Amino acid sequence: MDIIIEVQGLVKKYGKLTALDNISFSINKGEIFGLLGPNGAGKSTFISILTTISRPSSGDIIVSGFSASRQSDKIKKIIGYVPQDIALYPMLSGMDNLKFWAGMYGLKGSTKKERIKEVLSVVGLEDRIRDRVDTYSGGMKRRLNIAVSLLHHPEVLVMDEPTVGVDVKSRKLIFDAVKKLKEKNTTVIFTSHYIDEMEWACDRMAIINSGKLEALGTSEELKKSYNRESVEEILNQLNEE
Ligand SMILES: Nc1ncnc2c1ncn2[C@@H]1O[C@H](COP(=O)(O)OP(=O)(O)OP(=O)(O)O)[C@@H](O)[C@H]1O
Ligand SMILES: [Mg+2]
Repeated sequence: MDIIIEVQGLVKKYGKLTALDNISFSINKGEIFGLLGPNGAGKSTFISILTTISRPSSGDIIVSGFSASRQSDKIKKIIGYVPQDIALYPMLSGMDNLKFWAGMYGLKGSTKKERIKEVLSVVGLEDRIRDRVDTYSGGMKRRLNIAVSLLHHPEVLVMDEPTVGVDVKSRKLIFDAVKKLKEKNTTVIFTSHYIDEMEWACDRMAIINSGKLEALGTSEELKKSYNRESVEEILNQLNEE
């Protein structure tokens, strides 16, 4: 299997606090990969380095041969990022938001039209796309954000807590979208506190705890290595420590 992301001895310090403590692992192309761990474990810090929002103290993340710490322009073309905070214009319709962002990505004419149609079919928002975003539910806004992040055909989709504050229907549609992306060989990396959806959706998961990579594997492998019945139990154990 081809490796698309290589995390190499990644360290992130905030003053005296070590948020990421020498983490190394790799993610395969087309993999659905979950990051889990207790609050403050370092998951969002990892994502901020991967998406080039912040720089590592040492080490690096290599995406398709490019360095996240030194080649942010290249990385931004490869990665689609769905931030936890919604990045949309509430007074505009969903369609106008998509048109705006498509323009920002330099898409024009028939390509622009086709891409918008394509990303909408992934997240399933066609019926409400002419309505203003401020009339959408939290789940619909999140799906629109995912649609925006897919406009430039990223090889890697990164989502931090994509299902927080999202209704059951939208949650299902988000994971349907993830499955569709997998079929297109897009790599998806996301964090979530909902372990059931992680286990269901992810090919492999990494458990981060106090900035360290505690374990990595399929849910079966994780249960075996911790000698636990469920991944939920593993997380509960870490939360108690
Ligand atoms: N900009 C910052 N300045 C100082 N400390 C920070 C900063 N960002 C994060 N931290 C600290 O780094 C550690 C890791 O935080 P991070 O947000 O990466 O955790 P997380 O795993 O995403 O947690 P959660 O599950 O609560 O989202 C925490 O102790 C946090 O307080
Ligand atoms: Mg976080």
